[in-house]
Amino acid sequence: DKGGWSSFMAKEINEQPEAVENTVRGRVVDGLVDIPELSALGDDRLREIDRIIIIACGTASYAGQVGSYAIEQWARIPVEVQLSHEFRYRDPVLSDRTMVISVSQSGETMDTLMAVKYAIERGVTTVSVCNTQSATIPRESDAAVYTHAGPEVAVASTKAFTAQITALYLIGLHLGRVRGTLSAEASAEAVQQFAELPEKMREAVATHEQIAQLAHWMADTRSVLFLGRHVGYPIALEGALKLKEIAYIHAEGFAAGELKHGPIALIDHGQPVFVLVPSPRTAPLMHSKVVSNIQEIRARGARVIAIVEVGDTAVLPYADDVIRLPLADALFEPLLEVVPLQWFALELSTAKGLDVDQPRNLAKSVTVE
Ligand code: BG6
Repeated sequence: DKGGWSSFMAKEINEQPEAVENTVRGRVVDGLVDIPELSALGDDRLREIDRIIIIACGTASYAGQVGSYAIEQWARIPVEVQLSHEFRYRDPVLSDRTMVISVSQSGETMDTLMAVKYAIERGVTTVSVCNTQSATIPRESDAAVYTHAGPEVAVASTKAFTAQITALYLIGLHLGRVRGTLSAEASAEAVQQFAELPEKMREAVATHEQIAQLAHWMADTRSVLFLGRHVGYPIALEGALKLKEIAYIHAEGFAAGELKHGPIALIDHGQPVFVLVPSPRTAPLMHSKVVSNIQEIRARGARVIAIVEVGDTAVLPYADDVIRLPLADALFEPLLEVVPLQWFALELSTAKGLDVDQPRNLAKSVTVE
């Protein structure tokens, strides 16, 4: 049941504030993050972990990339992200102090399941971030941290993605608490950010109208670029993947700092570029660098669509369109920034007369390797 929406994807984009709320629910006790499924592994085991590898495919791998920044910051454990289907072929360096966290909405993606089985055979601790109750991957893993986003029907993942980021953040906060690397202030600040998140996400969802107009004017676009820095980088990759998946438009995401090392050659007159602009309050250095990037591409004729936090006026002289999002701590910006990009893909797909929920050649869950 689409609940009055034109597509499941539209419904699921709209459900994100509740999805992230449900992922957090029951996992904050007396102002501290406590995930019972991780506690069950034993604090000693969690304290011994010296390396985390996140494995996933597609959108879930971008959630993993966003999560890697937060886990490193809060738990001070080195985290790397690998595509599931690449993982075992590199003969990865694993030990009993390694934790492998798989991220999968369906919990049935064969590439990810095979990577998890490989990890289990090598004696590492396996944690599954999954949205589907009792799916194969969480059943095989040592611990399952469910996202509780509710069933996701559209092939293109939206609410499962933001819930996956949320779950990975909770894991980072849990590990940071147990290992003593997380200060009381940082912990309280993150818990406060989670409390404010649903309302801010509702404001991000409300960008729909503005995005729909933008997409209307861009219906003939043949290529779109996305730039981001830090946690905005995987969001740029996700914005591009969404366009490929459901609007069949060539799109690429880049780390903004990489622009000058090659991709800037792609910039030509009228080339649309979405830029995820870090907050000038919480990340002034990154903010000024990204504003310079915008100036560079604008000087070469790019059509700049800037996604900024409300009150950031530095980009106004150089942006053709500005999408404003509520203030949030740097690590929480991705959970807001991705929403207008989801709407953009949906609206461009609709403008092209495509079925947004059932894109050609794709399946919700790929159960072959
Ligand atoms: C792809 C889907 O095949 O699988 C993507 O098209 C999805 O949308 C990816 O992100 C991973 O799926 P899952 O269920 O493992 O999260």
